[in-house]
Amino acid sequence: MKKHIALVPGDGIGVDIVAEAVKVLDRVQKKFGHEFTYSTYLAGGCAIDATGKPLPEETLKGCKESDSIILGSVGGPKWDKLPSDIRPEKALLGLRGEFGLFCNLRPAIIYKQLSAACPLKPEIVGEGLDIMVVRELTGGIYFGERGRDENSAYDTMSYTVAEIERIVRKGFEIAQKRTKKLCSVDKANILNSSQLWREVVERLAFEYPDVALSHLYVDNAAMQLVRNPRQFDVIVTGNMFGDILSDEASQITGSIGMLPSASLREDSFGMYEPIHGSAPDIAGKDIANPIATILSVGMMLRYTFGLIEEADAVEEAVSKVLDASYRTADIFTEGMKRVGTKEMGSLIAQAL
Ligand code: IPM
Ligand code: MG
Repeated sequence: MKKHIALVPGDGIGVDIVAEAVKVLDRVQKKFGHEFTYSTYLAGGCAIDATGKPLPEETLKGCKESDSIILGSVGGPKWDKLPSDIRPEKALLGLRGEFGLFCNLRPAIIYKQLSAACPLKPEIVGEGLDIMVVRELTGGIYFGERGRDENSAYDTMSYTVAEIERIVRKGFEIAQKRTKKLCSVDKANILNSSQLWREVVERLAFEYPDVALSHLYVDNAAMQLVRNPRQFDVIVTGNMFGDILSDEASQITGSIGMLPSASLREDSFGMYEPIHGSAPDIAGKDIANPIATILSVGMMLRYTFGLIEEADAVEEAVSKVLDASYRTADIFTEGMKRVGTKEMGSLIAQAL
């Protein structure tokens, strides 16, 4: 298979970890006889510095000419004081919006090798945790009408039936492939947009009779995630609730440096990135954990390229390296072998 991939390392540790993802992809192409080519583009703070814009035209154009996008991370204290329309984060929203990447998949998994890192009591997590947060990514309050003057400011959360339907269908379909449990999260006791959301979910549920559906208000969902996370399998929710709950879910796994994400559009084109941030304090120091980005590559192989065997191989390689006790600083515990970013990438590539 021949594929061209846009690399958008972004800021901070984005640069360090995307390099390791490429190392692993190179190994995949050799082992399985594919041809992957790459072009690298600027986005985020580095793009602001170089061009004055967080998402330069050239980046958009390059990404459009590619078969998928691998993104590192954007942002950092250097650009924190800028107004919101030229902040690094704008690059992310721009890419999501421009490509129509409405379906954001954020798995929260406790890796058995790292179960000690989970901050919850062992009796609460039991055998482990494997939750998939399906977050709507191109609508809701992130993209609604907004404004401000000196004394007031507003953002609006609006959803159309079509926007709700397409993400909720993804939720049901993913649930069908897992344990057939879907929890839809909203704030239907207060918000109009959530009431519509819930109505659409209820209507679609008739088409997926094999899936056990539940609804939770977002405040309760936040509580249940720490009280009894094992009740969840697939969670489907809007943009902002998904932003918040996916961070919470990642934290209860104890290893945010391990978690990948996929942002997909209907035709399976996608952008893949770790869920963690740019960690500017450790950028360029060969400390960051590249595993989340490497697992994001696994998701890319699976969801955009349909290369299931290859995707499984990447996940197995990560598992093998963890089994062999190699750890980056963020997941290091007594008795393990501490390695840097580059060595972790090389070990995973070798394990392939
Ligand atoms: C995320 C991030 C982004 C979001 C920010 C950086 C704009 O928190 O991907 O979850 O809020 O969507
Ligand atoms: Mg977030």
